[in-house]
Amino acid sequence: MMTHYIETKNLILREFRDTDADGIFKLDSDREVHKYLGNNPIKTLEEAEKIISFFHLQYKERGIGRLACVEKPSGKFIGWAGLKLNLGEKEMLNGYTNFIDIGYRFLPSFWGKGYATEASLASIEYGFKKMKYHVIYGAADVDNIGSNKVLNKIGLDFKNEFMFKDSTCNWYELKKENYEY
Ligand SMILES: CC(C)(COP(=O)(O)OP(=O)(O)OC[C@H]1O[C@@H](n2cnc3c(N)ncnc32)[C@H](O)[C@@H]1OP(=O)(O)O)[C@@H](O)C(=O)NCCC(=O)NCCS
Repeated sequence: MMTHYIETKNLILREFRDTDADGIFKLDSDREVHKYLGNNPIKTLEEAEKIISFFHLQYKERGIGRLACVEKPSGKFIGWAGLKLNLGEKEMLNGYTNFIDIGYRFLPSFWGKGYATEASLASIEYGFKKMKYHVIYGAADVDNIGSNKVLNKIGLDFKNEFMFKDSTCNWYELKKENYEY
């Protein structure tokens, strides 16, 4: 099985470890972080451990998964970014099943430093060049200004609005043939 690892100017993207549970707890118990993610932050460390198990399952069974992001100079865990294979009806978005999706989720103290853009540009390059994917999709709540900005900045094209649970979301797509950087 291949081990995923990406390095950018300021960040290391590596596979999750069990010792990241405290970091995931901090990230996913934060109300601000979950504002546009269904407003349902986690409450226990056990939930954080389950999230990490799911990341491991993604690497093992889907060949790709979200990667832990570490700030290079400080060595601090800042959250996650990267690609995921959304599988089956349960993970359907905008009528799509079995597709590669780009995402990111950072601790608020690391927002506004360009890290989502930096991690995502590297993830797209990894997806097209290393993983040989043909198309990458992205989705964000219409009110999530930061995330919509990131998706536009990294070159995805807005396609349509769709409903996910009770939220209106924007759907984005980037085909390999339109990938130019
Ligand atoms: C969305 C998120 C990942 C953005 O991360 P980030 O590292 O701050 O993003 P960047 O610094 O790369 O910002 C990219 C652009 O968006 C802008 N931006 C970021 N957050 C913004 C906000 N809340 N309001 C307005 N603009 C914002 C930045 O100013 C930057 O614009 P610029 O290039 O014109 O200066 C971060 O806010 C986050 O983790 N949110 C919680 C989880 C989440 O919502 N994930 C996305 C789900 S779809």
